[in-house]
Amino acid sequence: MNAPTPNRFRNPRAKHNYLGQSCSIVAVGSYVPERILTNAELERLVETSDDWITTRTGIKERRIAAADQATSDLAARAALKALSSGGVAPAQLDLIIVATVTPDMPFPSTACLVQQKIGATRAAAFDLEAACSGFIYALEVGQQFIMSRTYETVLVIGAEKLSSIVDWTDRNTCVLFGDGAGAAILQNRPNAHGLLTAYMAADGSKGNVLCVPGGGSRQPASANSVANRLHYLRMDGKETFKNAVQAMHLAAREALQRCELDISQITCIIPHQANRRIIDAVAERVGARPDQLFVNLEKYGNTSAASVAIALDEAVVAGRIRRGDLVLLLVFGAGFTWGAAVIEW
Ligand code: UT7
Repeated sequence: MNAPTPNRFRNPRAKHNYLGQSCSIVAVGSYVPERILTNAELERLVETSDDWITTRTGIKERRIAAADQATSDLAARAALKALSSGGVAPAQLDLIIVATVTPDMPFPSTACLVQQKIGATRAAAFDLEAACSGFIYALEVGQQFIMSRTYETVLVIGAEKLSSIVDWTDRNTCVLFGDGAGAAILQNRPNAHGLLTAYMAADGSKGNVLCVPGGGSRQPASANSVANRLHYLRMDGKETFKNAVQAMHLAAREALQRCELDISQITCIIPHQANRRIIDAVAERVGARPDQLFVNLEKYGNTSAASVAIALDEAVVAGRIRRGDLVLLLVFGAGFTWGAAVIEW
């Protein structure tokens, strides 16, 4: 696993970079599809049990998008909620970044489709792919545009329709994933609270542990690729589990060090919602108390890039995060990629 890289903006607790800029998350929003798929229903689909899924993962149910809903539809719903909650008009947006592994189509980008759906006519738009770590990668990229004063208002979205790439005959994976979207609006608010640091990392040597092998330029779609089920998500669960615990622990340590914070000062820790056992193992390693953790995976399963974005919105709505609180986000995903962000709310 790569050693953490040094941060250009050391001591970001000062809240401003050398240009005197800070990056605030001025509003968040999320959307999950109405359809609930329970463990009991999965028992009728593959050889599994509610007991196995609950004890091995903590997941009780997940949301499944309608046939006519694509990732951009989920993303647009989350974006509109964030815009409305922040009192920001779509025309104010300068940039839209969508983190996803399930774009509506190879191109145009899902971000362009969202731009049209929400009427953000002034905004530039692009997708970013860092699998389950995508939301923090997108936050960090968005932050750079704000800090450099390139843009005033950036919309960052994590959105997935994972049900479209899950192999519904594979019990090792189909019980784990769900659909949804979460959004955050970033603005420069001098002297305001905001994103203190975001840390991103990757290890491409583990790319084949968690992937969709087909449909790209290496193995384009063909009758053969379909027959060999190459368009579905594949994962070595144990290897992913082990790396997820180690990487999120490292990411937490690095992000806290950069901000000169101790874990006890964090009000709310929002880890990637993949598996309750991973979350508990990370919490134990970083020395977190159970009451610091925010967990909603029992309702949604693993929604990849949307995971911490949805959880952040729910934690705010539930009053678990209040003005001035310190929040730690932790992510891990295919690539492998991982990262952390510290936010002063
Ligand atoms: O978002 C990216 C990050 N993704 C993750 O973090 C996922 C990481 N991995 C995991 O969460 C866990 O590895 C899993 C939940 C996927 C699997 O848990 P595990 O404790 O590692 O189980 P296992 O893969 O070692 O499987 C144990 C047994 C196997 O049977 P045998 O070979 O011991 O007879 C599996 O075939 O459980 C079996 N099994 C199931 N049984 C009932 C696997 N899936 C199921 C299932 N229902 N759905």
